[in-house]
Amino acid sequence: MESTAATNVAPVPEAEGKVEQNITPWEVESGESGIDYNKLIDQFGCTPIDEALLQRMERVTGKPVHPWLKRGLFFSHRALNEILDAAEAKQPFYLYTGRGPSSEALHLGHMIPFMFTKYLQDAFDVPLVIQMTDDEKFLWKDLTLEEAHRLTYENVKDIIAVGFDPRKTFIFSDLEYVGHMYPNIVKIQKCVTTSQVKAIFGFTDSDNIGKYAYPAVQAAPSFSSSFPHIFGRNSNVRCLIPCAIDQDPFFRMTRDVAPRIGFLKPAVIHSKFFPALQGPKTKMSASTPGSAIFMTDKPDEIKRKVAKYAFSGGRETVEEHRRLGGNCDVDVPYQYLSIFCFDDSKLNRIREEYSSGRMLTGEIKKELVDVLTPIVLEHQRARLAVTDEVVKTFLTPRRLEFGKN
Ligand code: TRP
Repeated sequence: MESTAATNVAPVPEAEGKVEQNITPWEVESGESGIDYNKLIDQFGCTPIDEALLQRMERVTGKPVHPWLKRGLFFSHRALNEILDAAEAKQPFYLYTGRGPSSEALHLGHMIPFMFTKYLQDAFDVPLVIQMTDDEKFLWKDLTLEEAHRLTYENVKDIIAVGFDPRKTFIFSDLEYVGHMYPNIVKIQKCVTTSQVKAIFGFTDSDNIGKYAYPAVQAAPSFSSSFPHIFGRNSNVRCLIPCAIDQDPFFRMTRDVAPRIGFLKPAVIHSKFFPALQGPKTKMSASTPGSAIFMTDKPDEIKRKVAKYAFSGGRETVEEHRRLGGNCDVDVPYQYLSIFCFDDSKLNRIREEYSSGRMLTGEIKKELVDVLTPIVLEHQRARLAVTDEVVKTFLTPRRLEFGKN
């Protein structure tokens, strides 16, 4: 196994009564002061993304890196340098990401991995596979199989609306496509014991056996031979996986298994979580109303939610705020702006104005609404243009183009 807290790092004793952070692919619980990402890097045994790696990425792609790399939203990786080596040597690689379709509408946080994956697809000009894990959501949630499958189709429209290139992108529902991956799935399953799966994912004896089998299904798309029509049944093409850090346990397992079945280990690039409107301690949840801006929200809903729910780092009174200034480190409007306001000089100006007290809470909230509204409206316009025909194109197993830009 690659290093984990369980094997390598002595547990740090926590103060009495303190809430410990606990992050699994299905649950994100933070400590008192939000998520400690450095601790997560240590626990999971991944590597922080540093300035040198970003510069190398710019050299290799010949393009500026995405602001989310510069601003540390994507902050950690496994073996990203091997991907850059491959790109430099003009060797092929592909991207793999996914989504568990558990809700009708996607919120802003859901869009982040896909928007970032689109940047990677454009910057490196490589094929992309997107796994829709309707099977996973059926096994974990109170959802019928038919409903999970239907949600795949709804969510796929949102994903396509991000702007992926249909000549280079294959999207699949596990329920439909799993047979093609099955040879790799059973190879993976044979390499992982029940006690390993329990240790990695925290399953207990009362979890259903589908859960125990599922990690191999999420691992399989990391191996190119799971896609015979794209890469060929005997291929071994390198893979890079953009994902939120909570998905890392799957790929730690995958990297452990890979050499034992003759495949290259996938590389991974991790994002932090996007905070809920109520504050930086949680990630947005599609099931908590008012915790998220949805991609289906109307402009007045965005305005109302930001005004009503967005946790403020502003002071009690205007007088006090003018004197002490707002606290950008906890202010949700500022946190959201630091992700979605791509104009560096505007963001810096807002930071200065707000933290000096010249800008008030109502004003920074207005800045946020002005940034988010066009993004959400543009998404709605793009989604409307995604016809059933377009969906079918992306979901059809077929050859994909490599580097024709
Ligand atoms: N398990 C993920 C979710 O619930 C979906 C997923 C499958 C995924 N494969 C992936 C996410 C690869 C990132 C990368 O959303």
